[in-house]
Amino acid sequence: YLNYRVPRTRRDIFQTLIKGLQRLEYRGYDSAGVAVDGSGKDHAASISLYKKTGKVKALDEEIYKNNAIDFEAELDTHFGIAHTRWATHGEPSPVNSHPHRSDKNNEFVVIHNGIITNYKELRKYLVSKGYEFESETDTEVIPKLIKYLYDNRENEYVSFSTLVERVIKQLEGAFALVFKSIHFPGEAVATRRGSPLLIGVRCQYELSTEQIPVQYNCGKSGSLHPFFSNQFCLLEVSFAIIEHTNKVIYLEDDDVAVVMEGKLYVHRIKRKAGEDPVRVIQTLQMELQQIMKGNFKAFMQKEIFEQPESVVNTMRGRICFDSNTVILGGLSDHLKEIKRCRRLILIGCGTSYHAGVATRQILEELTELPVMVELASDFLDRITPVFRDDVCFFISQSGETADTLMALRYCKQRGALTVGVTNTVGSSICRETDCGVHINAGPEVGVASTKAYTSQFVSLIMFALMMSEDRLSMQQRRLEIINGLKKLPELIKEVLALDDQIKSIADELYHQRSLLVMGRGYNYATCLEGALKIKEITYMHSEGIMAGELKHGPLALIDKHMPVIMIIMRDACYKKCHNALQQITARQGRPIILCCQDDPEISKMAYKTIELPQTVDCLQGILSVIPLQLISFHLAVLRGYDVDYPRNLAKSVTVE
Ligand code: F6R
Repeated sequence: YLNYRVPRTRRDIFQTLIKGLQRLEYRGYDSAGVAVDGSGKDHAASISLYKKTGKVKALDEEIYKNNAIDFEAELDTHFGIAHTRWATHGEPSPVNSHPHRSDKNNEFVVIHNGIITNYKELRKYLVSKGYEFESETDTEVIPKLIKYLYDNRENEYVSFSTLVERVIKQLEGAFALVFKSIHFPGEAVATRRGSPLLIGVRCQYELSTEQIPVQYNCGKSGSLHPFFSNQFCLLEVSFAIIEHTNKVIYLEDDDVAVVMEGKLYVHRIKRKAGEDPVRVIQTLQMELQQIMKGNFKAFMQKEIFEQPESVVNTMRGRICFDSNTVILGGLSDHLKEIKRCRRLILIGCGTSYHAGVATRQILEELTELPVMVELASDFLDRITPVFRDDVCFFISQSGETADTLMALRYCKQRGALTVGVTNTVGSSICRETDCGVHINAGPEVGVASTKAYTSQFVSLIMFALMMSEDRLSMQQRRLEIINGLKKLPELIKEVLALDDQIKSIADELYHQRSLLVMGRGYNYATCLEGALKIKEITYMHSEGIMAGELKHGPLALIDKHMPVIMIIMRDACYKKCHNALQQITARQGRPIILCCQDDPEISKMAYKTIELPQTVDCLQGILSVIPLQLISFHLAVLRGYDVDYPRNLAKSVTVE
């Protein structure tokens, strides 16, 4: 947030920042922080940092506890930055919270969203140059690196934006960054790659232009033609900006934006062919009441609809679509050992177990290793033999599930390599495993897991791709899957657009007592997961049935009254599923079928169809689970239950 020549008290400035953070609270976070100019006569010559774990309110109280701050002092130029954090590297703690700093004098401070994948190499280099790190985060390399470049500028004048350009040249991964420095008081620099960043523009007068020219190859900002304005808010998420302005500029990857003395400059190092040389000022169509759960009735519904973004966040900075490479930074150091192992064991409970079931086949195909998928409780009950050359994965959204944690300790004792797949950095499973993958789905509030499942799914697929990178015979298959992952967010949106149709199916079903979900092959996991969603939030009886088992018992349940959902996609099991369908219809069953678009063969035998876009066979389960998430949500609403807090269940099951 930056104000220029519009005097405001320090109290106003804090309140603006804190209120902005409060607007973002609905997204979930574990800690918060702000950096503002220090108190005292030459206030911009120092930076004060306030950071706190827990709620924004706690941060606010922390600031007001400080007697040394003159809250009534009027400042006519001021630049402050604020951030809420959801831990990705390093547990929630004040020192791991943002803003991060270059040194004890806070010469440079930075806020960051995203992931820096090469942070270990950068950190090693900076440590060798004598820089001391205080946090466990990937972000901290950024303020240290900019200070290193500043300290080594050798009498050359280097602008703030040039320093930032030099920093981002060294960064790999995804980021939206905002920098503040005592060496460049009243100046703000922001940049992005892969993570969204927008600039709110508030002008005292009518805006005189609709677009801002991009400046190439400029070096020092002094020679540039700026866009004039009076105030700017530099923020990353539109909900926090909307009460100040609805005029915004969306930055492109590698844009470096500078706000200085009421002027805005957008720099790029060089112009790429076909690139638009202007950034257009756009009007946000968003109302304040959209904040919090937005237009959604429940967090679960919001989380279902977040999946186009959450799967992108899982992949962000890890898949290079140009070179078809996948790097899961948390596993790189152990990759050789994993490749030499005797077998992979995937362990989890509930939905997390289903993510293992969903990806087992592709893991077997791409790693050519035996893969076991285990329910943590049963795995322990059986006192399953585990060996030193086993690699055991512990899949858990919360990272705290007691059964999974005990299975982890059991495997560790037997000398196996342990890998966490969690959504909660700093959780017990994160801390106790040898290495891991953070699924980056963002906080999941609804007790019924939805976006964590699809992100676990994508994470395990990425692991399979990483394991098979050097296998010549698998390149074609890998390419097909990587292309499928690239298109996945768009296809998820297509599935979400079927919501009204799915709701009308729920209208017909909500008074039923039972609902069977049937399928096989890659979509069997969807049956288990769909049935679990239905039972946990609608309290209806539901069962996921392997279609291949139909004749061995479940067929006896079928008559014209039993509601059945079948999943029949165009994959290697298509014919077999078709057979199962004939057996159902021959017993007067009236199946609702999830099938691929344009499949008249199936449609004519269905009572109703939900037609899904087709993707690669091993990714289809990510699309087929979404209608079942939606159906369970609508059924629960129609039956009058609290979707987010189903009876008898807790989000984190920390007891056996
Ligand atoms: C179902 C659900 C649970 C969890 C299970 C494991 O919607 O949320 O089945 O998946 O309790 O929890 P985590 O993944 O936190 O280990």
